Amino acid sequence: MAKTASLQIDDKAYNLPVIQGTEGEMAVDTRRLRAESGYICFDQGYGNTGSCDSQITYLDGDNGILRHRGYPIEQLAEHSDFVETAYLVIYGELPTEKQRRDFGTLLRKNAAIETQMQRIFEGFPDDAPPMAMLSSIVASLAAHYPELATNSFEKDLQNFDLAAAMAISKLRTIGAMIYRYQNGMPYVHPKDIPFCENFLHMMFSEPYKDYVAEPEVAKALNLLLLLHADHEQNCSTSTVRMVGSSAANLFTSLSAGISALSGPLHGGANTAVMNMLQMIHDEGDDGTRFIEAAKSGNKSTRLMGFGHAVYRNFDPRAKIIGEACEKVLAKLGIEDPLLAIARNLEQAALKDDYFLSRKLYPNVDFYSGIIMRALGIPVNMFTVIFAIGRAPGWIANWREVASQPKGRIYRPRQIYTGPVTRDYVPMDKRG
Ligand code: CMC
Repeated sequence: MAKTASLQIDDKAYNLPVIQGTEGEMAVDTRRLRAESGYICFDQGYGNTGSCDSQITYLDGDNGILRHRGYPIEQLAEHSDFVETAYLVIYGELPTEKQRRDFGTLLRKNAAIETQMQRIFEGFPDDAPPMAMLSSIVASLAAHYPELATNSFEKDLQNFDLAAAMAISKLRTIGAMIYRYQNGMPYVHPKDIPFCENFLHMMFSEPYKDYVAEPEVAKALNLLLLLHADHEQNCSTSTVRMVGSSAANLFTSLSAGISALSGPLHGGANTAVMNMLQMIHDEGDDGTRFIEAAKSGNKSTRLMGFGHAVYRNFDPRAKIIGEACEKVLAKLGIEDPLLAIARNLEQAALKDDYFLSRKLYPNVDFYSGIIMRALGIPVNMFTVIFAIGRAPGWIANWREVASQPKGRIYRPRQIYTGPVTRDYVPMDKRG
């Protein structure tokens, strides 16, 4: 028999349906509560609100579990690569050999940025924040490919495969071009080579000297992107769903997701971690002084890369990245003093009651920056790399919203706490 929950308000009881997910997650369905009682649910920041049902990613923050379409992140990190995981996240199944080949071909065919679009770059100051450039240029895809961005779910879904491949592939090319533009270097066109190698080629090739990525370097980038591929209803993904729910096209919705990702509490945290580690290093601290300051409760001195809105246990991605970080640096023969500081901070925090009692553990951003630095990626590009990695998750979520026959526009309610009604006061009568 279907379960129900009962809510008693004054002398009236309201029966609310209970929903169960495939992993046993339970929810009380309050959709009819306001119509029946006049009450809404108050949940600032949506921390305890299920805004949708979704088949993409399962996350259990208490037990440090992350699975895409049922596959544990640890297995994907070990056996898969970014493009295959992107396919899985978007289409729901691991690709067959042919599907994987066709998807790769579609990505390669749609990697280039046409000349007219290239001119958009010139409108930006050469020190513009890369994420501001990225969200604007991705938004412009809707203007350059209007046939794929009609703002009709039905029509946009008909062209979904092409739009999705374009978004993944061009976002990566745009990222590399932003780097070249900011450094006054000519753009490098994509080649017919694998996804990560192509990105590194477009970033680092010199005139008459093609950059050919070492296998360890391409593998490390693959791992980084794969680990970011999706992460349930985080701030940027929920933003993509919210914008998409108005029937806005894929490119426009992705651009909004990129903007949401740029904040330091979300995707910008990897940059903040590196700045923090560099500052600690420059001040000659081994992390001890910083740890003390981080416990003040002051948001500006938080230990960046620690804590997570949903993990109250280790972030499984941080475990994988932390281990990979040692290996990548060893393989590349790099000794980074910031790695030693990060290890000190981690060990000190994991022994400290402040962090233990608040269940604050390293998150994905704590070590990812050290790997990116080893690959030669500058700090101001870190969040762009995160965006390239997260694109499959955003795309899959947009598609879910667009495909739901009974979906409705996202429109939360609020509790108003401003002044009650009052009469307009003419200017000459205002104190
Ligand atoms: N350093 C020191 N104290 C912290 C930290 C931290 N990094 N994070 C949380 N706290 C404290 C916070 O001050 C509060 O203390 P008290 O209970 O005494 O008031 C307690 O821990 C709970 O914090 P909260 O703000 O309720 O936690 P939250 O779940 O709202 O915030 C967070 C999660 C990720 C925004 C926060 O932990 C944070 O600011 N971390 C640093 C930024 C960071 O690394 N962000 C990347 C997140 S992972 C990438 C992604 O998926 O976006």
